[in-house]
Amino acid sequence: MVAQDENNATGVPSLDDYPYTKAVLEGRERWALVDEDSAQFLKLLPDNCIDSIVCDPPSGTSFMGREWDSFGRAQGARSAFVAFLSEIMRECLRVLKPGGHALVWALPRTSGWTSWALEDAGFEVRDCVYHGFYSGFPKSLDASKAIDKAAGAERPVVGTKRVTRVLNPEDVKVHNYSVGTVAQGGEVTVTAPATLKAAQWDGFGTALKPAVECWWLVRKSFNDTVAGNVLTYGTGALNIDACRIATDDKLTRELGKTTTSPSGWKSVNRSPVAGKDGARWPSHLIVDHSEECEPDACVPDCPTRMLGNASRFFFTPKPSRREREAGCESLPARSGAEAVDREEGSAGLNSPRAGAGRTGGRKATLFVLRDDLTPEELEYVQRELVAAGVAF
Ligand SMILES: C[S@@+](CC[C@H](N)C(=O)[O-])C[C@H]1O[C@@H](n2cnc3c(N)ncnc32)[C@H](O)[C@@H]1O
Repeated sequence: MVAQDENNATGVPSLDDYPYTKAVLEGRERWALVDEDSAQFLKLLPDNCIDSIVCDPPSGTSFMGREWDSFGRAQGARSAFVAFLSEIMRECLRVLKPGGHALVWALPRTSGWTSWALEDAGFEVRDCVYHGFYSGFPKSLDASKAIDKAAGAERPVVGTKRVTRVLNPEDVKVHNYSVGTVAQGGEVTVTAPATLKAAQWDGFGTALKPAVECWWLVRKSFNDTVAGNVLTYGTGALNIDACRIATDDKLTRELGKTTTSPSGWKSVNRSPVAGKDGARWPSHLIVDHSEECEPDACVPDCPTRMLGNASRFFFTPKPSRREREAGCESLPARSGAEAVDREEGSAGLNSPRAGAGRTGGRKATLFVLRDDLTPEELEYVQRELVAAGVAF
């Protein structure tokens, strides 16, 4: 560990070696910058001294082959990553005041590992904030090129295209571009499949374009009520009003008034509490503008501008009743009670197993099996059903 104060006689690091950090903790300075291994440095801080933490730790995806992000392969990598991060996050938890929040970055693919490490460390996971930035670059292996490469076949060059950013060795490996075409604004060759099999798999890749990153919102738990904790430590609640998002929309809606969303979904305002005009409640979705947007003008392909037009995006609302029941028009209408052979309004109707033949009152169950089972297979299935408690 490199100490800020070279005069430390004992050689054992202490907070006295970090006068700026000490000054911040004592309220004499507003900030300090420390360049240390957090696993070591955090040990010097006293318990319950930090109000909040924002951190951008490794994701365990071997980012550009960096050592600090490499934890091995497959499940071994997961265990090693969780052990590494939870050790640091345990120290973060100790130094945070009760009720203190932390925002911890994660990549979607390994965000499960990050949240696991946070829970292992003792944090309470409160939410996951999704940041849609849309400008990621797909690290997709071209299946067609890979087939030609494996076959030792040279692909015919059919054109060139300009690269929009500096390519790194990973791009060269993944996209099979030749080295020497890596400069920004330079050109890479466009090739066509050389073999029949490569032609069959032309257009296939192995990854989607990254467009979202995650920020886990976690909190140190506390024994007091929220009211008691905010008064004692000044932590435990989010400053919602300070984070509201300005809008020209009128958000206060009349009780009982029906509105229609841009996707055609109608909803009736049943909330007895009015919203705040001009200020939206902050949500756990953050969207970004295109890099070319000006403060008062978005470029045409700005994702935030396009969000106003849902048809440009995958839009996945829950299916409407009409969609759920499409194709079932010719079937006789049956109530839920009829479908599970129970009395209308009976307690058993609410059983999570109603209709499964496992609770009393069921008259008959028809199991439709495949029609190509041998007598032995049929007997096996019957035995399994009897073992599972289904009477014949
Ligand atoms: C996902 S990167 C974030 C980098 C930085 N936020 C940025 O945007 O450039 C993770 C960073 O954590 C640093 N890191 C890894 N282990 C660390 C440790 N034990 N203590 C402090 N920093 C560490 C790495 O050097 C790397 O810069």
